[in-house]
Amino acid sequence: MVPTEAEILDNLTTAILYFDSGLILRRLNPAGEMLLEHSAQNVIGSPAELLFPGDETFIDALREAVATAHPLTEREKLLHLPGHRQTNVDCTITPWIIGEQVDGVMLELSHIDRQLRITREKRLLSQQSTARELLRGLAHEIKNPLSGLRGAAQLLERELIADDLREYTRIIVAEADRLRSLVDRMLGPNSRPRMGLGNIHEVLERARQLVNVDLPPGIELTTDYDPSIPELTFDRDMIFQAVLNIVQNAAHAVGDSGEILLRTRITRNHTIGNERHRLVAVIHIVDDGPGVPEGMLDRIFYPMVSGRPDGTGLGLAISQSLITQHGGLIECQSRPGHTQFTILLPLGNDT
Ligand SMILES: Nc1ncnc2c1ncn2[C@@H]1O[C@H](COP(=O)(O)OP(=O)(O)OP(=O)(O)O)[C@@H](O)[C@H]1O
Ligand SMILES: [Mg+2]
Repeated sequence: MVPTEAEILDNLTTAILYFDSGLILRRLNPAGEMLLEHSAQNVIGSPAELLFPGDETFIDALREAVATAHPLTEREKLLHLPGHRQTNVDCTITPWIIGEQVDGVMLELSHIDRQLRITREKRLLSQQSTARELLRGLAHEIKNPLSGLRGAAQLLERELIADDLREYTRIIVAEADRLRSLVDRMLGPNSRPRMGLGNIHEVLERARQLVNVDLPPGIELTTDYDPSIPELTFDRDMIFQAVLNIVQNAAHAVGDSGEILLRTRITRNHTIGNERHRLVAVIHIVDDGPGVPEGMLDRIFYPMVSGRPDGTGLGLAISQSLITQHGGLIECQSRPGHTQFTILLPLGNDT
């Protein structure tokens, strides 16, 4: 059966809102109700100023469309909604002309937050994999001459009789080993994940307890877990390490007093990179410390990037590599007083 126009309107994902020439809402489709988070019954008869509060320029644009009968399209507009909500939309304003007169305006609003997020995450993943490729190449170039250097020093050591001279070759060997282990750590774990079914909260609790042991009394480590998250398929030790690095960073950041929060949620139909997952576990690690140093935010996942005098700058690079091996994503938002790391982990039972 071919759907009627009304049925098509009802099933659009684009919100359609019709305002009369006095900018009073007269009609809307179900997508419009979803956008406003109110039933038609509740919002029909409301003035546009109330539905898009504090957005003077937008209201002016609607008025202008009524006055001049000119249509208008705006892309990636930040729409202000009741209850201090905001969302990104593509927006088209079409004057409704009957005879010579503008009778009202029709508004088409399509959500683009989802697309924007997918684009951002894709960019992030591709940046992360470029960085890893670069590192792998560099590590290879370092490790080969390094083993030559080490071998030569060992041969030399056998030839040397004086013990004080041997001390020098020992230093060469020890430093070559140190460099090698640094490069290995930069590359992250090279074993493949050992996947098994497990509970994410158990892993988070392990990390929390470990960090808690040397935490100054002024730091509070709190949790807000969503108990409805089902078991997921992952490598416990790897995810433990990934989370631990981030919680340790948070502990360093807050210093002597502050709050660190571990929060979990579940989200549905989430696309990471090119893959769409039915269920994704979301882990937030939030602290109220001073925030990531200015200008460093887009580099913190690169190895050797550190804002701490005694940091090696490897923690986050390793976390990232562990999470990507699980098909997940890690990102960070930070401003003074609020730093949030987000880990997305596909639940793994739908791939
Ligand atoms: N929660 C946070 N708040 C503020 N800055 C942070 C936070 N987490 C990370 N950073 C910044 O990012 C940098 C990189 O972190 P990363 O864990 O990769 O290295 P590190 O902590 O310096 O050294 P390590 O290898 O010992 O972990 C940190 O040095 C710090 O400047
Ligand atoms: Mg660290």
